[in-house]
Amino acid sequence: MHRLSWTIPISTHFNRALLGFDRFLFEHSSRVCRLAVHLGEALDVDGHDLAILALSARLHDVGKMAIPGGILNHPGPLDDAETTIMRSHSVQGERLVRSQCDIPFGDEVATIVRHHHEHWDGSGYPDGLRRQATPFLARIVAVADSWDALLSPRPYHPGCPASEVLHILRSERGFKHDPGIVDVFIEKIVPFLGDS
Ligand SMILES: [Fe+2]
Repeated sequence: MHRLSWTIPISTHFNRALLGFDRFLFEHSSRVCRLAVHLGEALDVDGHDLAILALSARLHDVGKMAIPGGILNHPGPLDDAETTIMRSHSVQGERLVRSQCDIPFGDEVATIVRHHHEHWDGSGYPDGLRRQATPFLARIVAVADSWDALLSPRPYHPGCPASEVLHILRSERGFKHDPGIVDVFIEKIVPFLGDS
């Protein structure tokens, strides 16, 4: 992680914006960045793509700054209209990244931000991409994002213990997530994570 430290100051604008908008979102993005980079290293992602992965993971939910707080922190299930608005955060994030010309690898980062909620079986959004049609780095971010999102308590769910998150991740292998990436995550990353 230390050799990627140069990527963090460059995204300071969005880091500050995220921190001011929602501390949980900022901390979640930091954890997803760390997890995604470790997972990328375990998957032999090279240094160039690792830098793109780090930035993309850190900015994956930046589009949530465009979502009304009443929907973002709604303490319960969203209705169809609210779900549509919530799901727009991936394309809003792509738009925000593309609007910042000083983000390195901006085109690649914007594409990964757009596709971080695609599912292996095509049931994700915004484009319903299947399998390898979703960029590899976006599939890595998706696994790291799911792990942290399930583990973390939020207004709309209490947060699960790591053992339960592991069970959920295994059940989503080949459906929501790339099975090969899940296997590496479980084998090489999970054993080194705590229960919180
Ligand atoms: Fe997201």
